[in-house]
Amino acid sequence: MADCGPSFTVRLYQAGDYQNVRRIVANGTMELVMVAFKQAIRSQSNVFLLFASGQLVYVITGSLTCTSLMCFVLLTFMYLACRQVYASYLRERMETDMADIEGHYLKPPGAGFWVAVEEEGNRVVGTVGVKMEPGHPYSCQLFRLFVDQRFRRHGLGRRLTQKVLDFAKVYGYRVCLLKTTSVQEPAIHMYQKMGFRIQSSSPVPGPALLTLISKISGYELEKNL
Ligand SMILES: CC(C)(COP(=O)(O)OP(=O)(O)OC[C@H]1O[C@@H](n2cnc3c(N)ncnc32)[C@H](O)[C@@H]1OP(=O)(O)O)[C@@H](O)C(=O)NCCC(=O)NCCS
Repeated sequence: MADCGPSFTVRLYQAGDYQNVRRIVANGTMELVMVAFKQAIRSQSNVFLLFASGQLVYVITGSLTCTSLMCFVLLTFMYLACRQVYASYLRERMETDMADIEGHYLKPPGAGFWVAVEEEGNRVVGTVGVKMEPGHPYSCQLFRLFVDQRFRRHGLGRRLTQKVLDFAKVYGYRVCLLKTTSVQEPAIHMYQKMGFRIQSSSPVPGPALLTLISKISGYELEKNL
């Protein structure tokens, strides 16, 4: 007998989804910290920094303990730099659109917010929103695309994105934009397969030292509808 697996539907956000949506957005954002850290410690300049400082401390102190301590401090700093990027982003989101999902996504014209729910149990497992670009009535921006880690690779990311694109076409938008970071490789891969093109890349906003150490870039993608 064939294994059917869980079934999902994508529906409009309801007030009762509030806590689950916030949880999925928070978990999905903070999981990127470890991915970013792994990328940062593999970058050429950070490898060089670790190697050079380790060598310097060893030459000065002759102590393997001090050298290991130095490397540990640097690695901790790299981790905290990555964490700071996503934690400050999340804090801002939780205090703005994720604090008032209805006010930001259901009330304004040309906006919307959808959730993917597991049919059995009505559990929210994915989120996505869209809003009009301020000052650009023919452009919209996709926001908050997240799928619960346990339910990835079931086609939900694609379905949620397609929901936004279908809505955007019917509403009369001509362009759909979105912002992401270099760390989110599965998302970038999916967007490109769905016809989005990278328009620009720039260091993520924040203190220069954090940007330098974390190596995270921000990308803007766009798709003509
Ligand atoms: C990006 C994300 C939403 C994709 O959700 P998903 O439900 O796993 O995606 P789907 O199953 O619909 O897969 C769609 C496509 O995404 C790409 N993809 C998904 N996971 C991938 C992975 N681990 N590696 C490479 N490509 C991947 C593939 O192109 C896939 O198409 P395919 O199955 O035909 O190969 C999910 O990984 C996620 O929530 N990531 C963390 C949050 C995030 O980065 N959000 C984007 C905000 S801008």
